[in-house]
Amino acid sequence: RHWRILAVAAGALVLGGCSGVQSALDPAGFEAREVATLFWVMAIGAGVVWAIVMAIAVYATRIRPDPHEEKVGLRLILWGGVGFPTVVLAGLLVYGLGMMWTLREPGEGLRIDISGEQFWWRVTYRPQDGAAVASANEVRLPVGERVEFALTAPDVIHAFWIPSLGGKVDMIPGRENRLVLQAEKPGVYRGVCAEFCGASHALMAFDVVAMEKDAFEAWLKDQARPAAQASEQARGAELFLNNGCGACHAVSGTEAKGVVGPDLTRFGERPTVGAGLMPNTPDNVARFIRETDTLKPRAKMPAYGALKPDELQAIAGYLGSLK
Ligand code: CUA
Repeated sequence: RHWRILAVAAGALVLGGCSGVQSALDPAGFEAREVATLFWVMAIGAGVVWAIVMAIAVYATRIRPDPHEEKVGLRLILWGGVGFPTVVLAGLLVYGLGMMWTLREPGEGLRIDISGEQFWWRVTYRPQDGAAVASANEVRLPVGERVEFALTAPDVIHAFWIPSLGGKVDMIPGRENRLVLQAEKPGVYRGVCAEFCGASHALMAFDVVAMEKDAFEAWLKDQARPAAQASEQARGAELFLNNGCGACHAVSGTEAKGVVGPDLTRFGERPTVGAGLMPNTPDNVARFIRETDTLKPRAKMPAYGALKPDELQAIAGYLGSLK
């Protein structure tokens, strides 16, 4: 019975990695599909090689010392031990290297600058026509377009990885790395930091929203407009500024012009709070402001535990209204 439970658990673990918003084996983009194909070719190739080697090993244990079998054994060593690996490895190398060229073709049109920071993502859209748009912890992409990412980091090494779309590429201080990705299916995916970068490395994720091209262009154009200011959120807006939030965060069209932390101009549109930490609900936003230090160890933002519950709710309401 135990082995059955073990087998089911192992099967669940293996299959659990095969689908969902964060799987390299469930590709939703051109680059990810290439990488998934490479994985299967390598995995199946390795399986075949393993089976052949095992068969030869079993045969070798049964060989008897007579002149004819020794000749067969020698031939096996030559062909099986030298010839076969040379052909197989050379074939896989050529196949893998050939793929590199397709993955390196430059993007077309839109460029997105991403800066990995402890422990969040600074996102700047740079359309060919029109002004740059600042955002954070969310990346939107037009489906079917080869989008070029410029990847940097101001503090330590991070790595940019959207398993469903492709990657991963290191973000290294003092360097700019390039990555081109093409989403093929609209949807919401999850990106992660794939290089240990400090206490909250595991809590450094981002949302990826692949949109139909027209919807994306309309969305990007709309980003030039300052954040909508709902009059019923005036108290939250005032608390936000009076508590100094604007020293680190920017909200376009207001006095908040900080650049240390994430830009919050369209915070209400984002699916999560705290860089992929929790769903973006008013309660979670209030909790994040109150308990930043425990929810996100070593983040630069201090916890605002002294704020009263109704003040936290007012600020959360204001942030959620920014669209
Ligand atoms: Cu950033 Cu790990």
